[in-house]
Amino acid sequence: MENLQNDLLLKAARGEKTERPPIWLMRQAGRILPEYRELRGKLSGFKELVETPDLAAEVTMQPVDILGVDAAIIFSDILVIPEAMGLRYEMVEKKGPWFPETIKSKSDVDRMIVAEASGVQYTLDAISETKKRLNGSIPLIGFAGAPWTIFSYMIEGQGSKTFSNARKMLYTEPELSHKLLEKIALSTINYLKGQIAAGANIVQIFDSWAGILHPTQYEEFAVRYIKMICDAIQDVPKIVFAKGAYFALESLSELDCHVIGADWNMDLSDVRSQVGDKTIQGNFDPCALYCSEENIVKEADLMLAKFENGKNIANLGHGLYPDTDWKKVKYFIDHVKSFRY
Ligand code: CP3
Repeated sequence: MENLQNDLLLKAARGEKTERPPIWLMRQAGRILPEYRELRGKLSGFKELVETPDLAAEVTMQPVDILGVDAAIIFSDILVIPEAMGLRYEMVEKKGPWFPETIKSKSDVDRMIVAEASGVQYTLDAISETKKRLNGSIPLIGFAGAPWTIFSYMIEGQGSKTFSNARKMLYTEPELSHKLLEKIALSTINYLKGQIAAGANIVQIFDSWAGILHPTQYEEFAVRYIKMICDAIQDVPKIVFAKGAYFALESLSELDCHVIGADWNMDLSDVRSQVGDKTIQGNFDPCALYCSEENIVKEADLMLAKFENGKNIANLGHGLYPDTDWKKVKYFIDHVKSFRY
């Protein structure tokens, strides 16, 4: 195992005690930082940044250098997997992801391949480059979308308030849905293994649209495939963040993973009562970062009061909003870092 100068995140993920909780933030690399916006402004678009390893490494390092977080997360996107399977995405300015083609029929599902890690070689190269720049300082987090969330984008072709096309497919074409979900899960396993081989020290699975499914469906079409991934990935700690899936916490706690993410709708004590011994990650409301410094401290202390040594990782309940003042973010991080168990 690699010897890191600061391995707080890996220790807390494994349930080991530390002098203070580790902190990193979902979407820490991105638009809140002027340095990101400046670099991004010089490029053709988001994909150029994701697909150029040197640039992706640079953007991955920005929050490490500027904000002082305890871990880096590789700059990429969950949508690289559908693309490697055969469904190209575009990132439309100010709108978000858009797929020119979507999955509508059995022949579309048949056309999708199980991606190899080398189908996303640029991110593997970005990981190797970032590891050089980190130079043994802090862990690097690899990540992928959970199959259900990736499935949703492949069916809808873009973000949606209801994801009703994706949900409709689960009801009307359950077998076909399973076929696609399995291909996504197998692709994700290959990809995460590639990320770990390239140097990722820990991985996070993002199930951003977990909260929109019926609990029974979430078991059948989502947990089942997260389980497949957790069982296949064995060399590093695993974080499962299923946004809004408070109804599935007990079942998620049975997964072979180390950390369960909590969004801000969940009370940390309630989460604890459902996930047993696992480490909990979260759950500061990203909106609370719009508060005054004084109130950020108050809110942060409410969260920290519920932390237990070796059982919590400080993070937000979901990603940073782009118009958050980075100085407030740094203030929050510094405050959490000054806390001692
Ligand atoms: O700092 C980090 O967290 C690492 C990089 C990262 C990005 N996307 C970069 C990004 C990570 C971990 C993601 C994950 C991701 N991507 C998720 C899961 C997490 C979540 O937020 O629920 C999802 C659902 C996506 C899909 C996606 N990518 C959407 C819906 C959007 C548009 C909305 C938005 O936030 O802009 C993106 C674009 C995206 N991914 C940006 C970044 C920095 C903004 C692109 C830009 O520079 O214009």
